[in-house]
Amino acid sequence: MSVRLDHETGILTGPGVHETARRVKDLAGVFRDETARASRDQETVLYRVQAWEPQPEGKPGAVCLATTFLEPGKVGDEYFLTRGHFHANEDRPEMEVVISGRGALVLMGRDRVTRMEEMAPGTVHHVPPGTAHRVANTGSETLVFVSYWASETGHDYAAIREQGFSARVREVDGRPVLVPVS
Ligand SMILES: [Fe+2]
Repeated sequence: MSVRLDHETGILTGPGVHETARRVKDLAGVFRDETARASRDQETVLYRVQAWEPQPEGKPGAVCLATTFLEPGKVGDEYFLTRGHFHANEDRPEMEVVISGRGALVLMGRDRVTRMEEMAPGTVHHVPPGTAHRVANTGSETLVFVSYWASETGHDYAAIREQGFSARVREVDGRPVLVPVS
């Protein structure tokens, strides 16, 4: 038995594949409207990640991949999103390939300049070194995308937890707009 990525569904199966779920309760302080987040069912799953990491995080020698299934919805006028992170090893890049759904890849450099790339089935996105990244689901169905990174990359969630991104993907006049944090 080997690891298999289903290119129709994004489902990853096989030995060593592990799955994590992020629920509303796991994203405290992430959304602009914390009151709206806190008032929702805390057990609702916002996204699931199926990952295969041939080497443990931080140890060199492997390419890792993961499929993220990000549900549609909003907290206030802000689309459901992933927490986002910098890489612990600053010079390590990443790649995202979209399977299905619509979304926005939010990229922010250490200079806190933030930009957004539209995600749609088949689009490929390069996350340059030194760039924080998160994904928002701007569509009406589950956004499914596959990420590839090197095993020595490491994840730094603390900087984003403390300072956030400098802009948020919000619905303005019925469409997603990257709005600077005031
Ligand atoms: Fe990453």
